[in-house]
Amino acid sequence: MKFYHLILYGEFFLARKIGLSSKEDLHGKKILLRVDINCPISKDGKILDDSRIRIHSGTVKRLLENGAAVVILAHQGRPGMDDFTDLSEHAKLLGEYVGTEIRFVDDVMGPESISMIKKLSPGEALMLDNVRFLAEESIEASGEFHARSYLVRRLSPYFDYFVNDAFATAHRKHASIVGFPYTLPSLAGDVMEREIIALTEIKDPRLSPKVFVLGGAKISDSVRILKNILGNYRDSKVLLTGLLSELFFLSAGINLGKMSREKLERVGALTLVGNVREIYLKYRDRLLLPVDYILEDGSTMKVGENYADSKEIRDIGSETVSLYEEEMRRARVIVLRGPAGVIEDKRFRRGSLELIKSALRTNAKVIVGGGHLTAILEELSPEERNKAHNSTGGGALLLFLGGEELPAIEALAHSAEKFNLKGIELP
Ligand code: 3PG
Repeated sequence: MKFYHLILYGEFFLARKIGLSSKEDLHGKKILLRVDINCPISKDGKILDDSRIRIHSGTVKRLLENGAAVVILAHQGRPGMDDFTDLSEHAKLLGEYVGTEIRFVDDVMGPESISMIKKLSPGEALMLDNVRFLAEESIEASGEFHARSYLVRRLSPYFDYFVNDAFATAHRKHASIVGFPYTLPSLAGDVMEREIIALTEIKDPRLSPKVFVLGGAKISDSVRILKNILGNYRDSKVLLTGLLSELFFLSAGINLGKMSREKLERVGALTLVGNVREIYLKYRDRLLLPVDYILEDGSTMKVGENYADSKEIRDIGSETVSLYEEEMRRARVIVLRGPAGVIEDKRFRRGSLELIKSALRTNAKVIVGGGHLTAILEELSPEERNKAHNSTGGGALLLFLGGEELPAIEALAHSAEKFNLKGIELP
């Protein structure tokens, strides 16, 4: 059985944690571990929610307990954004969760990092700085291309294995995601494995109808994904929130006010209008848009009655929550991705919180995806919270559910063949 096929049936392949469960394999080995600990960050640079750090700590712990030396590679934010920071605080928090010090070096592949990587002993961990500080990291390119990147050429010689645990970045063809599997035997980490198993189950077309509640700031990703979602799951509905919903109103020629248009212009969303209009015209029966919003002064704006002309939209209103709750009651699967409002400000968390609560009151399987909504989920009691599959992925989650092959998984499949990793045979 080819590994590629095993990957397509991810649950069989990854459930067996190829390589990771074997003490013999890992003892004394130096492992480069890619995680996704990209966290929501406050304006003054503090981590607002560390759940992704906590989730990945399990993989780090397991590798250390198996006698490996672990060097952690991760990103935070994107160049030009407020959340583009170093990883010193991340390393400290990860160390607290793992229960051992995670050293931090404020450098990715300079002399200081290389010297620390060389000296690292079994059972010790080191975190390198934000890999997106390197310009070549974010080039969208093939694994072959990135195998020749300076980052991959420079770091690979110091490692025995590459472990990719960063499911949430699995949709990016970035150097640290797709390059190393071409130069090092590469394995899927525990988080990657768990996500693929849980989401493969959700993809089942018999679990229908599915309802997708989409919001968040990464609107170009969402627009890209929408066609697949609506095309693949014919009975599905998409409930739009946040900036994405404002973009749909604009594209449909419905006026929300001057401030909304200006905001969309500021974030560069106007280039998406044509695409969004096409989606709207084709699928409008399966798209739900808010009927009310909360403005920055706390007042309510009813769509079609008053406008965001002097105050910005910050959240969805309570009538929208009720409307969306009604739709969710009919679903067998509910996927929530991206916040409905500006949740960094406590006054505008309500819409997102209420939507999650509504979803959890239904009998559907609920998947909550992306860093921001995970933070909201943390506000619920453990009993409530545990009813949902808390996916680390935002864009990756939707692309996976939309049926796209994720570059990270393809690269792992390639590595398994290239390095003749044993794996398991399907029964
Ligand atoms: C995420 O939060 O979705 C991942 O960390 C990927 O981040 P990106 O959208 O900036 O690539």
